[in-house]
Amino acid sequence: MDPAAPLSPLTARRSGPLRGRVRVPGDKSISLRSLILGALAVGETRITGMLEGEDALSTAKAMQALGAQVERTGEQAWRIMGVGVGGFAQPRAPLDFGNSGTGCRLAMGAVAGCPISATFDGDASLRTRPMRRILDPLEKFGARTIEQTEGGRLPLTMKGALDPIPVIYEVPVPSAQVKSAVLLAGLAAPGTTTVIENEATRDHTEKMLKHFGAHLRSDEYGKHGRRITLTGQPELEGAPVAVPADPSSAAFPMVAALIVPGSEIFLDGVMTNPLRSGLLTTLKEMGAAIETLTSRHDGGEDVADLLVKAGPLKGVDVPAERAPTMIDEYPILAVAASFAEGETRMRGLKELRVKESDRLEATAALLRNNGVKVEIDGDDLIVQG
Ligand code: S3P
Repeated sequence: MDPAAPLSPLTARRSGPLRGRVRVPGDKSISLRSLILGALAVGETRITGMLEGEDALSTAKAMQALGAQVERTGEQAWRIMGVGVGGFAQPRAPLDFGNSGTGCRLAMGAVAGCPISATFDGDASLRTRPMRRILDPLEKFGARTIEQTEGGRLPLTMKGALDPIPVIYEVPVPSAQVKSAVLLAGLAAPGTTTVIENEATRDHTEKMLKHFGAHLRSDEYGKHGRRITLTGQPELEGAPVAVPADPSSAAFPMVAALIVPGSEIFLDGVMTNPLRSGLLTTLKEMGAAIETLTSRHDGGEDVADLLVKAGPLKGVDVPAERAPTMIDEYPILAVAASFAEGETRMRGLKELRVKESDRLEATAALLRNNGVKVEIDGDDLIVQG
């Protein structure tokens, strides 16, 4: 949302029980990655179930500006003809990522290893978000950035490395975007690029890179982390991608069904990648009646049909190390917590402060305005049910 846009208030009313079956739109992380990897691969990538929201559309336009052929062939169906690793063309105008932090940061990684120069820009909210976390590792590959303002914010121009050198990089904050940008830059470098994360984050980039033919290994690292090694300069080949339903979108009808008495809903084809399933784990700990009806493997990801029934919830303590697996779900978990019996403490939410808005403050304000007792204690959010 453009923070400068006039506010248009919405009214919500208490509803009767929710009943029925729903398939929420395609996963955003996978949609964006399929566009970018499709553009970096040789040959055709066909994407089905694509999320056709603004973030994906701006990323698709950017891939087109970088030389890939991108075409919408039907409802949620897209076809990309990629240019090959290192093959991006010099874009004629700045790349505008709108509100998409993920699209922008991943594309920066993909551009960093190409001998071109590209200007990255976005809307007012994206212009406030930190980019240094991405630029630092990309500069180690040999990319250079020219910032138009202080402090690593958009708009900025990146000059990709002429001869990218592989790096070993330990990601200082748990961020799938940073990890993915480093891996995408590593594609263009000869030899092995290594990314170490002390807390495992969503691994869609790793899975999709393998699906497109890259050699990549992911090993456990420490108690909660991963060490990922990628062999550079692979022949990436276009491949079909079936985008599963987005668990971050499914979270909303799921929580609505849990808290509205008498509800019973079916959620079809929801991605249940363990690194995206922190909300499911937490809701189940709270006593939620969520049943997996069928589960399968679809397009390299775990997918399940879920049955959700309303019922009493109890407050829980959500450990900080779970945060990367549910980073986008805290606002809706906080709503569930306000309907639970007792206190819920969500620990270690520092990263929520650097999202599209300060999500920690915004979530607390939302609950407070609705009469819920809520407190921020350092990086923790405490909700009284
Ligand atoms: C995303 C990673 C997360 C998440 C975002 C999507 C991704 O961001 O909040 O909505 O697709 O890689 P961070 O990497 O900043 O945690």
